[in-house]
Amino acid sequence: MQYTGHSWVMVMDRLECLFCARRYPLDVFEIFCPFCHEPMLISSTPRKRSFALDRSLSLEKYQSFLPLAHVTKTLSLGEGDTPLLPLDRVRRKHHLPPVYAKNETINPTQSFKDRGTAVAVQKAVSLGIKSIGTVSTGNMAGSTAAYGARAGLRTIVLLKADTPPEKIRAAGIYGPILLKVRGDYGELFAASLEIGRKHGIYFMNSIDPLRIEGYKITGYEIFQQLGGRVPRYLFVPVSSGGHLIGLMRAFLDLKEEGFTEELPVFVGVQAKGCSPVARAFAGGKARYSSFPHPATIAHAISNPAPPGGNLVLKLVRENKGMVMAVTDAEILAAQRELAELEGIFADPASATVLAALIKLSRRQRMSLKDEVVLVITGSGLKSMETTERLNIPVHQTSLSRLEKALRTIGA
Ligand SMILES: Cc1ncc(COP(=O)(O)O)c(C=O)c1O
Ligand SMILES: [Zn+2]
Repeated sequence: MQYTGHSWVMVMDRLECLFCARRYPLDVFEIFCPFCHEPMLISSTPRKRSFALDRSLSLEKYQSFLPLAHVTKTLSLGEGDTPLLPLDRVRRKHHLPPVYAKNETINPTQSFKDRGTAVAVQKAVSLGIKSIGTVSTGNMAGSTAAYGARAGLRTIVLLKADTPPEKIRAAGIYGPILLKVRGDYGELFAASLEIGRKHGIYFMNSIDPLRIEGYKITGYEIFQQLGGRVPRYLFVPVSSGGHLIGLMRAFLDLKEEGFTEELPVFVGVQAKGCSPVARAFAGGKARYSSFPHPATIAHAISNPAPPGGNLVLKLVRENKGMVMAVTDAEILAAQRELAELEGIFADPASATVLAALIKLSRRQRMSLKDEVVLVITGSGLKSMETTERLNIPVHQTSLSRLEKALRTIGA
């Protein structure tokens, strides 16, 4: 039962497959369509939806768009409500239309993943689930471990055998069970879901439907922050595809509810060195094929066989969008510019969006009225290894020559 503001109604969450239109009651252990083998999404509920902007948590503000009958405040770590920052120096340098960064690096564990984990953990607790898990080497591991700790749930993180120790520690500090697994990473993803179903462990992986619901909130916030407008372009990095799928669903929700008639041009961005979805898009294909020998500095989006890849292609095609690829050199230059010109230290995976905007603006005319939003998905502090390539000058002097040295440097 759920109170809508006027009356109590029965709300039963359902999953839908967009490929065959079949629907099923929500089962957190069964997230792929048994017929199409594609990820399913929460189907939108028939209730009237509205914003509750006077509430304190972002989950509460947009609760009527989410499959949550109740929000338990104590499970939240304060995710969401991230700033939309104008990038005026970047804009002037590259002669761009108005550009904004939706800065997701300030989430509780420094990435957008927290928005999805927050919704999935709310649901897990309401269903009485005691164990959660994820398959990840990076941001999702840290996010799931943090929210698992917050909720007092047993949390299992399955890691690739070659995950570097500093990445493991960033999740390990929250006290999850860490298990390194030898073998193919794609198969590990499938195996986790199967084992989870058998043993009641809710593996909230990258394209989990509840996780994707959490990502929708970013879209609603952007709409509010632009004063009830939809941006002309929305750039989002793509790996599994879960995040972009969530953002597209958010704007489709807003259209369906009559808040807007427009949709943004959705621009998914991949690193050229691992770009299965961009390659399929450029080739006019409805389905991607696995990307051989991935090699990019943007490790967080280096998935050669993304489970949401075909769904991204379908939704992008249906809703005015595109998927682009950018090189490592373009990514590093964009990362440096975001930091030096705007004060935002973005993960290389996140810097792809600025690189793609610069590329697109050279390829097609953008009007000065076109507002652009770049979603900066995660903090560069999680990928310090890429900064080794930066040639950052460090001056040296002694204490007695400090003043003179500053004068010489021109500080
Ligand atoms: C910083 C960052 N950006 C983007 C992504 C891609 O998100 P998705 O897998 O939902 O496409 C990830 C995924 O791990 C990430 O860590
Ligand atoms: Zn199906």
